[in-house]
Amino acid sequence: MRSLLLTTCPGIEDVALAETERLIFFSHYILKPMGIQGRLILTLNEDPSLAAEKLNKFSRTIHRAVILLALFNIRRDSSGLEDIYHNILKLNSLEDYLNSKVTFAVRCERLGKHEYTSIDIARVAGKALQDSFPITRRPKVNLDFPSIIFRVDVIGTSCFIGVCTTGDRSLHRRGYRIYDHPAALKSTLAAALIFLSEVSSNSLVVDPMCGGGTIPIECAFLNPNLKRIIQGFDISPKHIHGAKLNALAAGVHHKISFQVADAKKLDEIVNCNIDRIICNLPYGIRVGRKSFLKKLYSDFLFSTLKVLSSDGKITLLTTQAKLMKNLLGEIGSLKLKCERIVGHGNLNPHIFLLEKA
Ligand SMILES: C[S@@+](CC[C@H](N)C(=O)[O-])C[C@H]1O[C@@H](n2cnc3c(N)ncnc32)[C@H](O)[C@@H]1O
Repeated sequence: MRSLLLTTCPGIEDVALAETERLIFFSHYILKPMGIQGRLILTLNEDPSLAAEKLNKFSRTIHRAVILLALFNIRRDSSGLEDIYHNILKLNSLEDYLNSKVTFAVRCERLGKHEYTSIDIARVAGKALQDSFPITRRPKVNLDFPSIIFRVDVIGTSCFIGVCTTGDRSLHRRGYRIYDHPAALKSTLAAALIFLSEVSSNSLVVDPMCGGGTIPIECAFLNPNLKRIIQGFDISPKHIHGAKLNALAAGVHHKISFQVADAKKLDEIVNCNIDRIICNLPYGIRVGRKSFLKKLYSDFLFSTLKVLSSDGKITLLTTQAKLMKNLLGEIGSLKLKCERIVGHGNLNPHIFLLEKA
């Protein structure tokens, strides 16, 4: 099988697909294979490792690129471990990856109810990989520094087996995060917000509550030809200091201006029209208190109306979907173009795409 399994945040599979289309060629795709969110499978005409290399280098929306070796239904009771063992023994391409001089490790993600643990899965898969070779040519296991990593992911009754080309560190863990904001947005989700906002090279992009700067930084990477300085604001001097450190570490500090300011008074801070407002709002869970949210959201939305250009777009991420919809109803002059639910840790925030009515 010449297929790549890509993982990403649940709810942005189509955005990851659109980005991937710009980076590599593939003949066919499946979004959410077997109904599993946060995954897509690409069928390629070329060596999948070359395509994977490109994605590992350039993609900003995917977490891992895995050369897919098998995908099958797995039982939830203890016989599921036999399903894994037998499906690995059936693989005929293992010699492309393993031999007696190569060490390997199996990493596993398990979601759902099963009569076995992820440790059981890794143990059985590791044994099957070794048993696939004659005793004199068996590859050795090295859990700390393996030359090759196999992934065996069991999600409900689906099992994905493949060779992980990304390594143990997911691509969403960017090296630039020197300052860790307490409610930092996953960089891949930030990149998806920017893709959905359709930024052009002339756009003035503003994140009015930028925290550690993830959205402005990802925006600078995704739009290297942006003619205008991206603007990031936050009420907290500590976060603005952190955002500056992150931008410096990312090497994009010259493309972003960070400033302490109150997003409720956006119209007093920015004295020209804004084309794209992209913002991960406080949810009232980790940052801020719920009782403050209504006033914050309301004042913020009213102030955006005064500075948004006539064809401007607002892209917001929040778990407070009901509050947001009530406010949009009250304000009336902002129309909801699109809404989608995404997965972010244990939360399911909504992305709202707004335009002037
Ligand atoms: C969810 S966090 C943003 C996290 C950010 N996207 C990141 O990845 O680091 C929301 C931010 O809104 C800021 N904030 C809250 N009220 C604000 C206000 N009135 N004006 C500007 N920023 C505000 C908080 O300080 C917090 O950093």
